[in-house]
Amino acid sequence: MPDLIFSDPRLARIYDVFDGPRDDLALYTGIADEVGAASVLDIGCGTGCLAVLLAASGRSVVGVDPALASLEIARAKSSRVTWIHGDATTLPPLQVDLATMTGNVAQVFLGDDWELTLRGIRGALRPGGHLVFETRRPEARAWEGWAETTHRVLDGVEERRELLDVSLPFVSFRHTYRFPDGSVLASDSTLRFRSRDEIAESLVACGFEVVDVRDAPDRPGREFVFVAQTAGGLGVSAWPASTQ
Ligand SMILES: C[S@@+](CC[C@H](N)C(=O)[O-])C[C@H]1O[C@@H](n2cnc3c(N)ncnc32)[C@H](O)[C@@H]1O
Repeated sequence: MPDLIFSDPRLARIYDVFDGPRDDLALYTGIADEVGAASVLDIGCGTGCLAVLLAASGRSVVGVDPALASLEIARAKSSRVTWIHGDATTLPPLQVDLATMTGNVAQVFLGDDWELTLRGIRGALRPGGHLVFETRRPEARAWEGWAETTHRVLDGVEERRELLDVSLPFVSFRHTYRFPDGSVLASDSTLRFRSRDEIAESLVACGFEVVDVRDAPDRPGREFVFVAQTAGGLGVSAWPASTQ
């Protein structure tokens, strides 16, 4: 179940306002150009910011997310994207050139769902297709910057963010929103911080080769940006069971 911050209609409606300008997305449109991607799958597309950008540049784009409320916001932004309510484990064999996960989606997978997601993505890529995603570097200890409770008011909605627990590799926090009518909604989230080696190993185990690990230009030193490619051009069904 996605967190309320993504799946509650009132919270999904204010998500983009609180997320602010998306300076992070240029990296992904740049990589789409770099690998010559004509078709892209955006996993955990949320309110659709990247998918809409990619479709506007003429690419064929599929956005998938399990949070229906976020997907409804995305759907209202563009009819040029194919929006799918679900996740990477329920996709048809799309054969896309590139798959993306932005906004640290990779960290929402807390257990075996990470490997299941990677295998699902592999099944949706064409042979030789690429996967690019970011994840916060554990060494940068982002949670230390979240220790102080923050307050913001945007569009008349007050947001409070507080750190709940750090039990590495898991970090939990709560967002609480007070709306102008006095109603209050709270959403708890837990993220998993995986090391570079752990991610690389999981990619290889799920049938990818790691092509590159980059920095995110808008968050220097804080993120790993993994660029992977399907290994050996094998379809998932042909991948040896022992490595799945
Ligand atoms: C931080 S948001 C990022 C949204 C979007 N990628 C962006 O950059 O704005 C994380 C997203 O991951 C989605 N998510 C949660 N669980 C998921 C799963 N199992 N598979 C795919 N997406 C998931 C949430 O619904 C949410 O939209």
